[in-house]
Amino acid sequence: MTNEEQYIDSLFEQDEILENIREATSAAGMPDIAVAQGYGRLLTMLVSMNNVTNALEIGALGGYSGVCIARGLQQGGRLTCLELLPQFAEVAKTNVTKAGFGEQIDYMIGDAKLSLEQLVERNERFQFFFIDADKEGYPAYLEYAIRLADPGAIIVADNILLRGRTINENKQGPAVQAVRSFNETIVRDARLQSTILPGYDGLAIARVL
Ligand code: DHB
Ligand code: MG
Repeated sequence: MTNEEQYIDSLFEQDEILENIREATSAAGMPDIAVAQGYGRLLTMLVSMNNVTNALEIGALGGYSGVCIARGLQQGGRLTCLELLPQFAEVAKTNVTKAGFGEQIDYMIGDAKLSLEQLVERNERFQFFFIDADKEGYPAYLEYAIRLADPGAIIVADNILLRGRTINENKQGPAVQAVRSFNETIVRDARLQSTILPGYDGLAIARVL
């Protein structure tokens, strides 16, 4: 983290619930890669500003971003989380339940593309998407999000800088190439209005027109 990011984070009071989730996630042996605090706050704000009743998260990890999203939902709103690993989904479920959001969050376990295909078949619609899963999947996840979006829906994606690999020409692996392609699409696609924030590990934000 930069000194500027640290300074800004230090202005905010510790969020006990989210810090507990970070600790419980690490204690469960999972990687410490939950979304940055500042972006977690932004998720809550974007969800509440857009009157979201149905949100979709791709990549649950330990439930940190799930709580950030759930905090912004309208009364009676729901969050669906897609998670590849059943053991991660169990940890997330425990954590979000402790945080008071167990009733509002559903988990779909397994390959996100199969779950997304099911959501398309069921004709589900969402007003908010958070993409934070395997980076090679980002281009496909963006297409699915657009298909599942109500007009005006917000799509957010974490880690679009890949800790600098995105802008390092020597890096040409599949995740890096997928994220570069994702970034170009989200910026250029005529179906979207978009911006990219370069702070922390980079966050893309789009609105479906
Ligand atoms: C990393 C961070 C993330 O937020 C993520 O979703 C995946 C990987 C990382 O820093 O390696
Ligand atoms: Mg991430």
